Amino acid sequence: MTFYDPVESAFYSWCVERLITTADLRPYTARGVVELGAGSGRPVIEAVRRAESTIPIRGFEHDPRAYRTARRMVDLKGPATYTVELGDFFANAETAPECCVIANPPYLPARGPGPDLYGGRDGAEVTCRLLGGRFELVMLMVSSIADPLGVLAQAAARGYRLLDWSVRPIRFGRHCREPEVWRRLEVLAGAGEAFYGPDEYLLAGITWLRDDGASGDALPGADPAVLARVLCAGDAVVAA
Ligand SMILES: C[S@@+](CC[C@H](N)C(=O)[O-])C[C@H]1O[C@@H](n2cnc3c(N)ncnc32)[C@H](O)[C@@H]1O
Repeated sequence: MTFYDPVESAFYSWCVERLITTADLRPYTARGVVELGAGSGRPVIEAVRRAESTIPIRGFEHDPRAYRTARRMVDLKGPATYTVELGDFFANAETAPECCVIANPPYLPARGPGPDLYGGRDGAEVTCRLLGGRFELVMLMVSSIADPLGVLAQAAARGYRLLDWSVRPIRFGRHCREPEVWRRLEVLAGAGEAFYGPDEYLLAGITWLRDDGASGDALPGADPAVLARVLCAGDAVVAA
């Protein structure tokens, strides 16, 4: 099944647009960008069109139905610079020439009916696997319900420097409310690995850079401690 959420997918699209229009990041994006999980294809199609970008982007989608949807969308409205391939990202992109990866990865801690949104038992497995890869520039959507502190720690442990982030609230939808998913979220919340309020959680679009050539050191960064506090904020009791 194909995932598309008007709020979440549009936010991902906006984060992709910001990445590909940031001139300072051109040295890392110019050779191309790879995407884990194209879904409907709409987020990147719309980002590329708004940005009028010529950067080549290759999306990988392992769900055959989502892939067919994305291919149709690309054929209908796609910019020539965005292509979608059927297959597992990790099997295909690890040896790819691109040094930049983007994703709104699956981050639910249990499987449900519908699209593949399973991110492992803490929801962060796919995200951490991407951060364990060889990419220099990484832009990922990171959720406050999928071990966000563990994700930030993994990024630091893998040598990434936080460059930029944006965050927005996401209302719990039917996929999160599936009984098995919801039960796991409660367990993770008790263990300090998921942060949310009664109706919503937070989703951040985060850009990290690991530049072994050190030319990226000149780019201004952001403070990971501030981002960590924001992503845990859903847990706080706020006096109005
Ligand atoms: C949360 S959805 C995001 C879809 C789209 N990018 C969006 O934001 O609307 C995650 C997508 O990743 C795909 N996916 C998960 N693991 C993948 C993998 N290893 N290789 C390729 N696609 C994958 C899923 O099938 C799903 O379509």
